[in-house]
Amino acid sequence: MATETTTFEIRKTTQSRIAEVDFSNLVFGRSFSDHMLVAKYENGQWGKTEIVPYGNLSLSPATAALHYGQTIFEGMKAYKNDEGEVLLFRPFDNWKRFNLSAQRMCMPTVPEEIFIGGLQELIRLDSDWVPTGAGQSLYIRPYMFSADEYIGVKPSDSYYLIIFTCPVGNYYSKPVKVRVETEYIRAAEGGVGAAKCGGNYGGSLYPAKLAQQDGYDQLIWTDAKEHKYIEESGTMNIMFVIDGKLVTPAVSSSILDGVTRKSIVAVAEYWNIPVEERRVSVAEIMDAVKAGKLDAAFGAGTAAVVSPFSHISFEGVDYALPELNDASFPVRVKEFLEKLRTGKTEDIFGWTLKV
Ligand code: COI
Repeated sequence: MATETTTFEIRKTTQSRIAEVDFSNLVFGRSFSDHMLVAKYENGQWGKTEIVPYGNLSLSPATAALHYGQTIFEGMKAYKNDEGEVLLFRPFDNWKRFNLSAQRMCMPTVPEEIFIGGLQELIRLDSDWVPTGAGQSLYIRPYMFSADEYIGVKPSDSYYLIIFTCPVGNYYSKPVKVRVETEYIRAAEGGVGAAKCGGNYGGSLYPAKLAQQDGYDQLIWTDAKEHKYIEESGTMNIMFVIDGKLVTPAVSSSILDGVTRKSIVAVAEYWNIPVEERRVSVAEIMDAVKAGKLDAAFGAGTAAVVSPFSHISFEGVDYALPELNDASFPVRVKEFLEKLRTGKTEDIFGWTLKV
């Protein structure tokens, strides 16, 4: 195990903030656990890894990441089983993707003993912060940013890796109303859409704000060349159930290889549901909606888990999607994943890791 070879310098807080948190009313991303992991890369190597009380960072105003966005992150979750043990969900997949994002953004990769081993130490220390209510989990946010005090445009020589965690409830509290975006884009072929870098999210805010002003919760992103093919939705991968088949855009240089996405694909295949990972055109989906063949459409992501859509809007017309019931695929797969993550059903895929 990773932790056998690496030692972490741990400085515990003397004043836990846990009593200040209302665990019966967790707002996504507003409460932060007691500790965080901090590691610095400089002189061509990662230095010591520290676990310290959660708190502010002190940075030079010239810190490169603040100007040019050389920054990447991950989203992961931890749950408790009925025995009170903490289970991480597919952490190695996030670690691998973090390193792919790092390569794309010209940043150093992070060794397993720091990312996975450090994360385990951190979660052990803050295990009381893993909530157990329905739909709740401990959201984990690893991120890395360029730390050089320099304003020339070049890859930094120094970087910070930080991991902090927050107890969370549901990201969306109700089915989501989405609009097909045909003017702005999230990512272009050959760009950084497949990397989990900050700019992808910053750049999505303005078109999302326009949609929200018109009464929609999120967008369906389309391809950058023709706006003909569906890519993602909001900050999630997107999936459709058409005539009993699970259809989802294949990952590409402009589509994130989502961990929830690939978990859902694996579960569908295990259930012998036909799965098609391919290009999905807007026309195909709108035809299916109009013909009553679209059984469901939903977003899939770590934060949002499975978020069904209530409406899709295209060319100024809102189309209501069928109401879901307990037998609907998105409802069943969400429940199955929830049970698997909390150890209530056998982990047949070997996805969970006890900390
Ligand atoms: C996640 O699903 O974990 C994400 O990264 C989305 C986040 C921006 C809330």
